Amino acid sequence: MTVKEKVGQMMQLDARDDIDDHVLAKHVGSILHASPERLNQAQGLTAQTRLRIPLIVGEDCIHGHSFWIGATIFPTQLGMAASWDPELIERVARATAVEVASTGIHWTFSPVLCIARDLRWGRVGETFGEDPYLIGELASAMVRGYQGDGLTDPTAILATAKHFAGYSETQGGRDASEADISQRKLSSWFLPPFERVAREGCRTFMLGYQSIDGVPITVNDWLLNDVLRGEWGYTGTLITDWDNVGRMVWEQQVQPDYAHAAAAAVKAGNDMVMTTPGFFAGALEAIELGLLAESDLDAAVSRILTLKFELGLFENPRLPDAEAQRSAVASAAHTDLNLQIARRSVVLLRNDGVLPLPIGGSAAKKVAVVGPLIDDAQTQLGDWAGSSGQAGWLPDGHPRQMITTVLDGLRELLPAEWELSQAHGADILRLAPNPEGESFPDGQPRPPVVIPCEPDADLIAQAVAVASAADYVVAVVGDRIELAGEGRSTATLELMGGQIALLDALAATGTPMIVVLMASKPLVLPASALNAAAVIWVASPGMQGGRAIAEVALGLIEPSGRLPISFARHAGQQPTFYNQIRGQHGDRYADLTQDPAYAFGDGLSYTKVEYSDLRLRQQELTRTETVRAEITLHNSGERPVVETVQAYLSDRVTSVSWAEKELKAFTQVSIAPGETVTVSIGVPVADCSLVDARGNRVVEAGEFSLLVGPSSRAEVLLAAGFRVTD
Ligand code: IFM
Repeated sequence: MTVKEKVGQMMQLDARDDIDDHVLAKHVGSILHASPERLNQAQGLTAQTRLRIPLIVGEDCIHGHSFWIGATIFPTQLGMAASWDPELIERVARATAVEVASTGIHWTFSPVLCIARDLRWGRVGETFGEDPYLIGELASAMVRGYQGDGLTDPTAILATAKHFAGYSETQGGRDASEADISQRKLSSWFLPPFERVAREGCRTFMLGYQSIDGVPITVNDWLLNDVLRGEWGYTGTLITDWDNVGRMVWEQQVQPDYAHAAAAAVKAGNDMVMTTPGFFAGALEAIELGLLAESDLDAAVSRILTLKFELGLFENPRLPDAEAQRSAVASAAHTDLNLQIARRSVVLLRNDGVLPLPIGGSAAKKVAVVGPLIDDAQTQLGDWAGSSGQAGWLPDGHPRQMITTVLDGLRELLPAEWELSQAHGADILRLAPNPEGESFPDGQPRPPVVIPCEPDADLIAQAVAVASAADYVVAVVGDRIELAGEGRSTATLELMGGQIALLDALAATGTPMIVVLMASKPLVLPASALNAAAVIWVASPGMQGGRAIAEVALGLIEPSGRLPISFARHAGQQPTFYNQIRGQHGDRYADLTQDPAYAFGDGLSYTKVEYSDLRLRQQELTRTETVRAEITLHNSGERPVVETVQAYLSDRVTSVSWAEKELKAFTQVSIAPGETVTVSIGVPVADCSLVDARGNRVVEAGEFSLLVGPSSRAEVLLAAGFRVTD
């Protein structure tokens, strides 16, 4: 290969731009965000190049095929995480891969393994929540689902673990700001999920935008070479995030020009450079200037070509396949799977007994469905859901999958003799042009700014009128699509616009209120919602979300979701995650406790499960053994349940300050009314580790407690002690 061919193979460009010349003359190796027409055309152009190397095509298919209008859109990662069900999530990823592969895409930039701690961060909804163990379990399942039985399978796509690492640990929740994180903190909580998927064969890793201690991840030798390639032995492919290489010049200003930036990125071990068109000239100039040797490109180029060979692209570039799409995209099986995961993602947080609504009773009732999100399909789908304006990509005549909103779901499922009324009651926000201009220095469009709406007396009066005349009011409130996603962090966590005034007014009617919080991330609820008859949370629950919520409200299914993230009482409490370092006597504010409104692991069902008799098989273990516990669960209510049994570890005395408790295992069990079951849980002693003062992960001999129960809250956990010996 010539040096130009090598540099070109390391580049991934945005197919929405004019890239023909880059493909023909610069031998670009990859594209993203390509419509099927563009994709076909660009792959066709490679046939005119000397080596005819096919493009590898990437896309952000994060909870379904985001750039294919009409494809199945599942709940967002945070929503899926509420299921605590790796097996179901693996099936979702498999279904996504089948849909995505049929459209000519070989590579998804998913899953997100960032740990969500500051709830103001706009990308919280893209994560699996706040716990490293839960993230590792669910991300590993997702990677298995995407990559299937291996890359030769035509429905397998490459998974990407992102954003490596510490990207979420922002300043004040502001997206992509310098991460405030030490190496020890990274090793303790942020790296373990990445290590897990690296060792399990996730084929690619995406590097975060941000710097840690002043060093952009793109050139962070310790993280990329000592840890990822060295300690973990990772042989997969590294891709930068969007223009990371250019950003070192025009944003972070740690490199004087593209030649130096390109040289630093290549030397640090980046393989694929996303959307930095200036990388081509920069890398060539770097070679001319002696900043880089041509041979420095070889490892990266060979990793990229190996992926293409393994995918079989030289024989078959896997172009969009209309026939495969007809059976794959939005198939009945995928729609059914979508409903299954949506059901499992619904979390019931409060219930004074109002739910399930008594549809089996003899009296017909009136239900008022109220709120700005009763029928907001785009917000229900969430970020990365065809929201970028590429409507019309779906081939003509393809059956479009319907989105069931909460209003639709209740309309369809309420008994015919029940009455349903509706009102929006409030606006949330309006958009205005960005005062800093329409685009960033790199030409990317700047999002418009959000102006919260004032409460509207007329809208509230309409909602109060229908609520007052009803037996129940279902209030669907939350955030909106414009408040979630990349570059869309929020300074506050309160319900925006007229929503608090609406909830207060509805509460004042005295009609029992069921609050459905449809929020991409945990928000702070006002007293009128916290004290409502019932509170349900769904993140962005996907196409079937409205039906799943209605089924839970009407008791057609059992609520089984559990929080993968804590809910704050006030934005000022950030962060509120459960596994904080213990023993800080400043753990309350003068005006507020540090307690969350709802804790990690919380979630109710329509029955009562009693936990008793936690027993360990052995109380004394060595580092190579597994702590095995059994616990008795009794369903003393009248409805069945899927119970998520959570096991936390507490290390009594540690050489360094450490978390009070950490999730180490969980399991799900179905229990019939009146049934008593025994649940077994195992935690390898090797997992009872901490990161010591020197940064080494070690298991320290001594006393531990295993805490088992239905949530991370201390008051609901049973404890049993054991000792690890040297
Ligand atoms: O994959 C994404 C990433 O998560 C954020 N920046 C843009 C990438 C490609 O769209």
